[in-house]
Amino acid sequence: MSEPRGGQIVNVMKEERLFSPSPEFSAKARIKSIEEYERLWKESAADIPGFWGKMAEELHWFKPFDKVLEWNEPFAKWFVGGQTNVSYNCLDVHLSTPRRNKAALIWEGEPGDTRVYTYQMLHTEVCKFANVLKKLGIGQGDVVSMYMPMVPELVIAMLACARIGAIHCVIFAGFSSEAIAERNRDASAKLIITADQGWRRGAKLPLKANVDAALEKSPTVQKCVVLKRVGDPAPMKEGRDFWWHDLMAEASDVCPAQPMDSEAPLFILYTSGSTGKPKGVKHTTAGYNLYAKKTTEWVFDVRDEDVFWCTADVGWITGHTYIVYGPLSAGVTTFVYEGAPNAPREDRWWSLIEKYKINILYTAPTAIRTFIKWGDHWVDQHDLSSLRLLGSVGEGINPEAWMWYYEKIGGSRCPIVDTWWQTETGGIMMSPLPGAIPLKPGSCTKPLPGIIPEIVAEDGKPVEPGHGGWLVIAKPWPGMLRGIWGDDERYKIQYWSDVKGKYLCGDNARCDADGYYWIMGRIDDVLNVSGHRLSTIEIESALVSHEAVAEAAAVGRPHEIKGEAVAVFVTLASGYEPSDELRKKLRDHVRKEIGAFCVPDDIRFTTALPKTRSGKIMRRLLRDIAAGRQTTGDTTTLEDFSVLARLRSDEE
Ligand code: WT7
Repeated sequence: MSEPRGGQIVNVMKEERLFSPSPEFSAKARIKSIEEYERLWKESAADIPGFWGKMAEELHWFKPFDKVLEWNEPFAKWFVGGQTNVSYNCLDVHLSTPRRNKAALIWEGEPGDTRVYTYQMLHTEVCKFANVLKKLGIGQGDVVSMYMPMVPELVIAMLACARIGAIHCVIFAGFSSEAIAERNRDASAKLIITADQGWRRGAKLPLKANVDAALEKSPTVQKCVVLKRVGDPAPMKEGRDFWWHDLMAEASDVCPAQPMDSEAPLFILYTSGSTGKPKGVKHTTAGYNLYAKKTTEWVFDVRDEDVFWCTADVGWITGHTYIVYGPLSAGVTTFVYEGAPNAPREDRWWSLIEKYKINILYTAPTAIRTFIKWGDHWVDQHDLSSLRLLGSVGEGINPEAWMWYYEKIGGSRCPIVDTWWQTETGGIMMSPLPGAIPLKPGSCTKPLPGIIPEIVAEDGKPVEPGHGGWLVIAKPWPGMLRGIWGDDERYKIQYWSDVKGKYLCGDNARCDADGYYWIMGRIDDVLNVSGHRLSTIEIESALVSHEAVAEAAAVGRPHEIKGEAVAVFVTLASGYEPSDELRKKLRDHVRKEIGAFCVPDDIRFTTALPKTRSGKIMRRLLRDIAAGRQTTGDTTTLEDFSVLARLRSDEE
């Protein structure tokens, strides 16, 4: 942590509007009124283990659990002694019901090709690929990384891992080969699954080539499975690389699900933290599965006839929980689109909604702001009347974007669920229940049943009502992370040290007089760019690894579309001079080190950075400068005032 967190938080939001669900919507909903919600929440809060123990009856158990929760702070074990299987709960449970021949997954590729898998068909493919994995020597507890486009095979591979007890680690396809290698090494991945190439806005992404480069620095990875997605020739390394279709052609479709202990790891997913090293967030079997299922049912109020579209990439937690595990365990139809929203034109999403009669759309504020910028005429050409519910995630949604989403996309008839959660929480923690909780634009409203949020000051004591402070979760919940892969110490320090016995999520929030929560942004040095968490230190480390850079500081500045843009301040090593050419080189360097989506928007060269007397960079001051604001905060700890003056005069 490079500077003290917390501090005075000023609330500038003044949102008075209230949108209640229509009586027709509420009548059909699972939870129909605020009274019903409050009863359920109170009941859950009074007996957390009792509440979740009862919910867990909805999963299939090969062996029933003996105890709901074993809490050895900060390590939780849920459904102790029980055995289940996530792939079984997503697929097999539906095969003896009328859902057997219902679409589990509807997919459209960027070029317009489509595929539909029923629950039965998806089961067959998953069993076959599970047998492929076994044949390649993968078994319980082995880590399989995946670097793939948004194709059905990615979902199939994840479920196949779950079926045999292997642990998947999906790496977002925007990451560079350096980032892939770092994750492979940290997770000790044994196998990687990729594709020859991927489609993005008509261009071909070099996925296999990136993996080839990564494998030079991934000593634990022995084999590589390659899906043919695009079709250009791909160099295959004899004995290491195998084509997906060759392996599948010979695989049996009989593969019973392996009974797994409740706490067996299901997946690792890397996210940014406040140090340079990405955190491998660990999620396990039964608790995650239950939490994904129940939150899908409560928040999206899914029905059997729905087509549910979560637009996230499977490479992020939103995709894991609300493209794959939540919808499939709830028996709903999940829709997946492979490509860019403006391929071939800016109305692709609206044409997909019209074509597939999508009922629920779950997306991010950054996408909504982009569509606003592109213009209403793209939306107006399409019939969006199939929609009945809208969702938002990744960052706070500003009231202006909320209203556009509500009126333009939802036709003023669809509730918007503004869902607050994190990679670490496994699933949604706070959100309106659409049939029960009246909406206030910009607020994620109230906690889900079984979730106990509190707002505290730095001393851990509750803040006065209405004041901002640290958001903590006071009681364990089934979807919570079980640790950071290979680093229990970091898990303790990051989440469980600042406030005794409570989970520190890293966001500030306030709770208004109606018990509505308003998220007020991060308390640590983590940016939120297009709904993705980026750690300032990761970007700084990448910059400093370039020979021209002596020191670097990254901060966020407000950005109309992305929420935050990345601004970096760089001091150069001796012998280097500022130039546009060097700027370009540094951008390319970050692209290579971490990935294209982390590339700084602004690079400013400076002769010194503002620091505290103990040598810590004062990012708070840099944030003001990057945003073009007057410095307002306290500068009494600043070591050298002339640095600030020089930074301002360095401004271009
Ligand atoms: C951080 C988690 C899990 C969803 C995708 C991002 C911010 C997320 C909201 C929201 C305000 C939000 C928080 C959170 N965030 N949803 N509805 N309102 N802020 O997952 O990368 O783990 O990031 O995203 O700051 O801590 P993530």
